[in-house]
Amino acid sequence: MDKKVKILAEIGNILSSSLDIEKNLPSVLKVLSDSLEMERGTITLVDPFTNELKIEVAQGLTREEKERGKYKIGEGITGKVVESGEPMVVKDIGEEPLFLNRTQARKGKFAFLCVPIKIGNKVAGALSVDHLFKGDISYEEDVKLLTIIAAMVGQAVKIRELAEKDKQAVVAENIQLKQQIKGKYKFGNIVFTSPIMENVLDGARQVAQSQANVLLKGESGTGKELVAAAIHYASPRAERPFIKVACAALPENLLESELFGYERGAFTGAIERKAGRFEMADGGTLFLDEIGDLSHATQVKLLRVLQEKEFERLGGNKSIKVDVRIICATHRNLEKMVKEGKFRSDLFYRINVFPVTIPPLRDRKEDIPLLVAHFTHKYNKENNKKIEGVSRAALDMLIGYDWPGNVRELENVIERAVIVCGKELIGPRDLPGNLSAKDVEVKAEGTTLPKIVESIEKQKIEEALIKYKSQRKAAKALGLTERMLGYKVKKYKLSA
Ligand SMILES: Nc1ncnc2c1ncn2[C@@H]1O[C@H](COP(=O)(O)OP(=O)(O)OP(=O)(O)O)[C@@H](O)[C@H]1O
Ligand SMILES: [Mg+2]
Repeated sequence: MDKKVKILAEIGNILSSSLDIEKNLPSVLKVLSDSLEMERGTITLVDPFTNELKIEVAQGLTREEKERGKYKIGEGITGKVVESGEPMVVKDIGEEPLFLNRTQARKGKFAFLCVPIKIGNKVAGALSVDHLFKGDISYEEDVKLLTIIAAMVGQAVKIRELAEKDKQAVVAENIQLKQQIKGKYKFGNIVFTSPIMENVLDGARQVAQSQANVLLKGESGTGKELVAAAIHYASPRAERPFIKVACAALPENLLESELFGYERGAFTGAIERKAGRFEMADGGTLFLDEIGDLSHATQVKLLRVLQEKEFERLGGNKSIKVDVRIICATHRNLEKMVKEGKFRSDLFYRINVFPVTIPPLRDRKEDIPLLVAHFTHKYNKENNKKIEGVSRAALDMLIGYDWPGNVRELENVIERAVIVCGKELIGPRDLPGNLSAKDVEVKAEGTTLPKIVESIEKQKIEEALIKYKSQRKAAKALGLTERMLGYKVKKYKLSA
C-alpha cells in the first residue's frame, strides 16, 4: 500500500477510536514522526475564550516549552497561517525573521511546515511539523498530506466541541431537574392542615438541620418517603445525592451488593466493579425503606457501617470511607421485633436516634378535603381535565371511609375518579364501591357513653337483621338470645 495512504488510514483509526482528543492527538503526531521525516509535530488550537492560539499537543516539547508556546492570531508563522487560512513553508527556519521560536526548542537546520486546521470555513488552529532540512526542494507533497491530516483533526475537534456542548446542555438540564425535584419534595408540598401533622412535620423540619439519623414510622402510604425526601432537601446535604434503597424488594445477597457494591469477579456475573448505594450517597442521604425487612446478616453489616463509617465492597478488602446520613422507614413495629429477637437492638438504637411517626390518615381526617383538592388538581393536569372538586355526598363518603392504604389509597381513588368523572364535580358514582356507606365503620351518634353504645347497638342489630333475614340467626351471630334480640328490636323500633 502507498505509504501515505497507510499513514492516513492509521490516523483515521486513531481519531475515530475515541472522543478524547487529548489522548488521540499525541498518537497522530507520533505516526507522523515514525513514518515520515518529521519531527516536533505541533497542534495548535484557537482558544474560543481568549482567541489566543495555544499549543494543544506537541511532540518533543517539554511542558515548559509548551507553556511558552502561546501566540496571538497573526503573530509568528503559526499565527499567520491561522489568520490567512493558507499553509506556509519555511525552508530554513534559521533564515526566517517571522519564526519566533517561542518554545526555544529548536537548534540546528530545519524546514518548518505549517497548515491550517479548518472546521468548515473557520480556522480552528494549525498543524505544524519540523522537517529535516533537505536543501532547496519543494515540500508540496508533504504540505498536501499535512492538509489532509489537518482536515481530519478538524473533524475530531468539531466532534469534541459538539460533545462538549451536549454535555453542557445535559448538565444544565440536570440542574433544572434537580431544582424541580427539590421543589417537589419541599416540606411546603406536603399537604396537611391537621395539628397532629403540623407537629410531626415541625419535628422533621428541625431534625433536617442536624446530622442525626432519622427513623420514619407509619403505616403504608402515609407519606414516609415524601417526608424522607423533604428532610434531605431541607438539610445541609441538599446539593448532594438522595439515594433510596428498597430493602424489602431484594433478596439478601442482591441487597448487599446494592448497598456495598462489588469488585470485579466477586461472584459469577460480576464482570465489572460496581459502586454501591453507600458510595453513591457519599456526602448526601441514604434512604433505607422497609428497614424492618433486613436479614440478620445484613443487619450486622449495616451496623458496622453506621458505627465505623466504612465498609468494603463485596469481594474486596479495601475499606471505603463514606459520609452518609441515614434515614430509615418502616411500617413494622421495630420495638416489638427487637423484643422478639427479630431485629438487633444495637442497630435499632443507631437508627432510632430521632423517630418520627406519621399518623394514619384515619387519625387526621381533617387533611382529607385538602388532599382531595391537591390530587384532583394533579390528575386534572395529567389527564387534561377540568374537574372542579367533589360533591358534598362524595366528600362525606371519602371522610367516612377508613383508608387502610392511607394517602396512597386516597390518591389512587382520586386519580381514578378524575378519569371516569364526566361532570364538573366528582360524585359518589365516581368512587369505588368499597367506599359506599354500608362498609363505613359504625357511625356512632350521641355525646354520652350510653347514647353512643345504644347507637352502635342499634346499627349492628339492623345490619345483622338485613344480613341473616331471620331473628334466630341474627341473634346467634350477635351472641344474644332470641328473647333479648326481640326485646331490642322492639326498643329500637326495628322490623325483623
Ligand atoms: N401529605 C401529603 N401530601 C401530598 N401527597 C402525599 C402526602 N402524603 C402522601 N402523599 C403521596 O402519597 C403517596 C404515598 O406516599 P409515600 O410513598 O411517601 O408513602 P410511604 O409511607 O412511603 O408508603 P409505603 O410504606 O407503602 O412505602 C405518594 O404519591 C405521595 O406523594
Ligand atoms: Mg415508601
